[in-house]
Amino acid sequence: ESYDMGGHDTYMHKEISEQADAVDRVLRGRIDDRFSTVHLGGLNLDAREARGVRRIKILGCGTSYHAGMIGAGLIEELARIPADAEPASEFRYRNPVVDPDTLYVAVSQSGETYDVLAAVQELKRKGARVLGVVNVVGSAIAREADGGMYVHAGPEVCVVSTKCFTNTVVAFALLALHLGRIRDLSVSDGKRIIEGLRKLPEQIGQILESEDEIKKLAEEYAGAQSMMFIGRVRGYPVALEASLKLKEISYIHAEAYPASELKHGPLALIEPALPTVAIVPDDDLLEKNRAALEEIKARSGRILAVAHREQEKADHTILVPKNENELDPILMGIPLQLFAYHTALAMGRDIDKPRNLAKSVTVE
Ligand code: AGP
Repeated sequence: ESYDMGGHDTYMHKEISEQADAVDRVLRGRIDDRFSTVHLGGLNLDAREARGVRRIKILGCGTSYHAGMIGAGLIEELARIPADAEPASEFRYRNPVVDPDTLYVAVSQSGETYDVLAAVQELKRKGARVLGVVNVVGSAIAREADGGMYVHAGPEVCVVSTKCFTNTVVAFALLALHLGRIRDLSVSDGKRIIEGLRKLPEQIGQILESEDEIKKLAEEYAGAQSMMFIGRVRGYPVALEASLKLKEISYIHAEAYPASELKHGPLALIEPALPTVAIVPDDDLLEKNRAALEEIKARSGRILAVAHREQEKADHTILVPKNENELDPILMGIPLQLFAYHTALAMGRDIDKPRNLAKSVTVE
């Protein structure tokens, strides 16, 4: 923890503020405009092998698991390979079927999380091919994997992960684009995604400029006993990650649900004292998401929306710049990192060292 705080009061604030540069780093040197693809030299997976992959299973814990969920969605959308993410801690205890046509991807900031490492070792013992999407160079998981990519977020000191989450999702977008262009993603779609990726650093900068406004909102919501986070499809892992961030540093109880699941139970919780944070991107599901906001409003629930345009049913809307639909989740989580930060600050919490947590969980 000896590196410079650069004028920030906490490592978390410093790391949130570094995200435009961090994303620039994960992209650097990897984009190939000539073929509208990306080069990922360390994967150790040639085009023929990549075409033979029938499934992708992503394993990680906590925030890395949430990044993996967004990654699985990107892989399905761009490469049309069935993909899902699972907590590594669960996977290794359920005697999983290890299939030779499945590509396994282990995700970890530290590269030392025991549950992830143990899952990788079990997979390797059973002959599976395992890639690593890791931040810390030369870490145990990076060494154990057959290949992979570094996410180049730089050192992350704060116990809660912020910039590494964002960079990991961008790394998955690169992996999805790479696999997609080997398979059926068109040149024009490849180009569209590359253009979207290139816009990210500037758009992250724009989001960070709205910190004062987010701070005011956080101070307003800081009194809540509990909060609900909702999102649909691409937005659901964003909701999960935002609720984890809030829990970890503010100790406010928070739940995340797919917006579509509200009516199957959690709607019973909605009342004025339980605010909902809703992820509402301007995509094909906008009307569905708006209908969920109406349901909540009809039960007098308070709503804070993260959206691309003002949401009439919401009490407050945090606006984020629009990117390609597939890449929107990368940006929509960032204001909620600041929201969690300022909520915890308003409550006087020890942000860089939340109670009961360690930066990397290297034991079982
Ligand atoms: C992040 O805010 C957490 N403290 C935690 O969930 C973390 O993401 C998890 O323990 C996995 O760590 P890793 O990415 O280093 O493997």
